[in-house]
Amino acid sequence: MKAAYFENYGSIEQLKVKDQPVPEPEEHEVLVRNHASSLNFGNVGHVKGEPFFIRVFTGFGSPKNHIPGGDVSGVVEKVGKQVTGFKPGDGVMADAAESGFGAFAEYVTVKSNAVVPKPVNLSYEETATLPLAACTALAGLKKGNIQSGQNVLIVGSTGSVGPFAVQIAKSHGAEVTAVCSGKKAGFVRFMGADHIIDYKTEDFTDNDTTYDLIAGIAGTHSMSDFKKKLTPTGTYVNIGGSMKQFSNAFTTGPLLYLFGRQEFTILMYMADKQSLMEVKQMAEEGTIKPTITKTFALDQIRDAYRYYESGHAAGKIVITM
Ligand SMILES: NC(=O)c1ccc[n+]([C@@H]2O[C@H](COP(=O)([O-])OP(=O)(O)OC[C@H]3O[C@@H](n4cnc5c(N)ncnc54)[C@H](OP(=O)(O)O)[C@@H]3O)[C@@H](O)[C@H]2O)c1
Repeated sequence: MKAAYFENYGSIEQLKVKDQPVPEPEEHEVLVRNHASSLNFGNVGHVKGEPFFIRVFTGFGSPKNHIPGGDVSGVVEKVGKQVTGFKPGDGVMADAAESGFGAFAEYVTVKSNAVVPKPVNLSYEETATLPLAACTALAGLKKGNIQSGQNVLIVGSTGSVGPFAVQIAKSHGAEVTAVCSGKKAGFVRFMGADHIIDYKTEDFTDNDTTYDLIAGIAGTHSMSDFKKKLTPTGTYVNIGGSMKQFSNAFTTGPLLYLFGRQEFTILMYMADKQSLMEVKQMAEEGTIKPTITKTFALDQIRDAYRYYESGHAAGKIVITM
């Protein structure tokens, strides 16, 4: 099979498309003939080995897995002995992140607890945008106990996770303010945001508005900045952001919220069937719509990574096999 391959942590320029053996599914795994995948922040980190904390998942000294890619959208080719509920020919979407990655390839094995039927109304390319990004957005907002009528702030609304967070928050009946770069404001408004703050010209801390729920997906703000922007019973959910924001969340975050009624939580999303099933249902109901910014063939994998790094993407970059 053809697969995107890299040997050691380093530049994305070392990625090449190579012939690799088709993997054999273990007892609890499904072998998928993969039609499409999509790029996420972690796929870039996997190849580069940075930020360093990513090596907790990908291997400290050298990469444990040499084919990146987590999002899977394709057709079941073969199932392991213990797998029930799937058979060859079934259309599926899956998340291979906890199965050793390997989705930027024509075939990939995935633990069956991270495989669900594909949304019936979406193409394979559209389906490929959902597994990590939409599930992370959903898990983050649920962790923040999103409720109808809440005033919600989404910091980092244009990448992979953000546009789904905006759509899911709107579907829960929230009033959504999205923080993004001004050039992508139209896109985020199209996703449903009620208000936009262009972080290049305005800091969201520079006004008196407070929020019931803040999702921190990108940016460099301190945990006390977020705390000041919450209502007295508001919740801050840390999903991502710069290394500084991310490490602050683990160090100062819990201490800041020891007293009082405001809540603080950190999302560490791990692929799970329930989230995938909920996202499938939301896609079929039209509650969330895939956001493809550009599609690349597997042979153009380096171009796809370069496009991601250019910062021009608004929504998902899809890779077709
Ligand atoms: N907690 C979890 O389980 C989990 C799971 C998946 C991902 N993540 C994390 O979530 C984060 C986002 O992932 P992603 O895949 O969506 O990344 P992404 O596709 O790179 O998107 C990040 C977006 O943030 C925007 N941005 C940059 N600086 C900003 C700022 N100061 N304020 C507001 N927006 C800013 C950028 O767009 P513009 O500047 O052009 O608007 C960019 O589109 C990453 O840190 C990732 O590690 C966490």
